[in-house]
Amino acid sequence: MLTPLERKPDLSLPPRIVAWRHEDNANAAKKQEVSVEQLRALGVELSHFPTTPDTLEERLELLSNHKGYVHRDMLILSHDTDVDGWLPRIWAEHMHPDDEIRYVLEGDAYMDVRDRDDNWVRFHLVPGILLVVPAGIYHRFKLTEGDYVKIVRLFKSKAGWISTNRSAESDQDQAHRTYLKMFPKNQSGCKDN
Ligand SMILES: [Fe+2]
Repeated sequence: MLTPLERKPDLSLPPRIVAWRHEDNANAAKKQEVSVEQLRALGVELSHFPTTPDTLEERLELLSNHKGYVHRDMLILSHDTDVDGWLPRIWAEHMHPDDEIRYVLEGDAYMDVRDRDDNWVRFHLVPGILLVVPAGIYHRFKLTEGDYVKIVRLFKSKAGWISTNRSAESDQDQAHRTYLKMFPKNQSGCKDN
């Protein structure tokens, strides 16, 4: 019988990934979809496991053991309760020196990431999706009109979580430069069709 550390989490691709090119203030009626492969070429990993309450804790423990996520907490976001100003902070374009790992429990939200042509790719996060955004990629996060999301945040390190807003300085940051090397432009697959 496998020990908890030997067991692997039961992850699969989400039933339906909805990701598209996004321009602020553009007509959103005609969405140009972006595939899972194109997201992967940007270093973004999306997988899925059910949010069934009676097995959730076990699944999260398994995932943490398997992937080395040493710490986790829970975050509930809504404009009604945003007394700490989380929402404007995570809507500002930023990056982190560590991967950003989020598991959606309830509600929904949008995550935007920059492709290698510096255009936005937006995807819709719904319950059951496990998202890994690589260190050094510029991104931002916002609620949908539903104005509510409950997510688990998972961390590879217990060190303080650092966000750096985009600037000329952050473009020279080691994490961003490493990201650009790891996911070169000609592999992003997000050029115009
Ligand atoms: Fe972030």
